[in-house]
Amino acid sequence: MLSGKITFYYQQAAISGLFGLVINKEHPSTDFMLKLVRQNYFPIKEDRSQMEQLIGRKIDNDIVNKNGITIVPAQTVLTREAIRLIINHNIDPRVIILCSRDQAIYQSNQLFQETVSKSKELFQYISFSHKVPLTEISEEILPAIHDVSQHRDIFELIEVVRAKDDYTYQHNIGVGVLSTLIGRWMNLGEAELSVLSLAATLHDVGKIKIPIEILNKPGKLTDDEYELIKKHTVYGYDMLKETSGSNPLIARVALQHHEREDGGGYPLGLKKHNIELFSSIVAVADIFHAMSSERPYHEPLSFHDIITQMEHGRFGELNPHIVSVFIENIMQKTVGQQVVLTDGRRGEVVLLNPHRINTPLIKIDEQFIDLSQEEGLRIKEIIS
Ligand SMILES: [Fe+2]
Repeated sequence: MLSGKITFYYQQAAISGLFGLVINKEHPSTDFMLKLVRQNYFPIKEDRSQMEQLIGRKIDNDIVNKNGITIVPAQTVLTREAIRLIINHNIDPRVIILCSRDQAIYQSNQLFQETVSKSKELFQYISFSHKVPLTEISEEILPAIHDVSQHRDIFELIEVVRAKDDYTYQHNIGVGVLSTLIGRWMNLGEAELSVLSLAATLHDVGKIKIPIEILNKPGKLTDDEYELIKKHTVYGYDMLKETSGSNPLIARVALQHHEREDGGGYPLGLKKHNIELFSSIVAVADIFHAMSSERPYHEPLSFHDIITQMEHGRFGELNPHIVSVFIENIMQKTVGQQVVLTDGRRGEVVLLNPHRINTPLIKIDEQFIDLSQEEGLRIKEIIS
């Protein structure tokens, strides 16, 4: 009872802080309170993992400790460090007031673009020094990759990391973010996640030895050009193997991320169990990012085409377990989303089919459509 009352006061404080006025209503309407909760003006859950969901979001108020010192100023985008600070000061998370969702997306976008710019500088350093500055990458790039990968809405996250221009650098960071996300879905520990994020960010580092006009060639590559591009795997491996302090796994991911389960990949034509798990995760993230990005020779593929192609890859080329984890987690997040179907109709995903995860039940007006019973009818796009 008492804690309920305290919660109410915290919420009152949050609300009045937000609007700069004192709310005189003794019992604000439920609708009014729910609206605020839904708009994330204050979080209602408070354990550490839920607190971590606030990473990348912007706060609207100063966070003050019991001595009246501001420890996180208003307008800060919460980082893991800021969250740790709030927890260490025993500050009740309910005092945190978040800015609107759009601003949070904006902040994630900004963080992603800043990280792409930083990585561009570091890759340019690598191209003339042929040395990989692991410490700088770990300190300046990885924390941002982890933060962006915790963006609350998966479809917004995919939009944030999708390459729109400057593909090479946006791809490195995008694959870093998506691999980290997959690793988290696969319950990897923090130490393993850090190695995976670093390996994913550096998976294409060998491309610095390939002429840029070949990398960005819009038309079909000649056989010789394709053979040269394939060498980026070996170039990256050699460079990372020589880097002191580098985990050998990071070099092996650079070498193996184009290997395929059926032996049809390169450079060694390795099969299934001879491919490292991290290489297979990066392969899935690499393919997904390429399909969802804008390239000189293709528009981003639709949700339907991406899921279909990933499904197809599950039977032969890609690690089936990783593809399943990836598709299932994305499909889980479609429940409640507005979608456009391949025939142009709009509806809402209401229920997943556990046996055919990519064919859920869709509600259109008052009608329900079971996509598993509708051959050829699929989700084309997610719209909110
Ligand atoms: Fe590659």
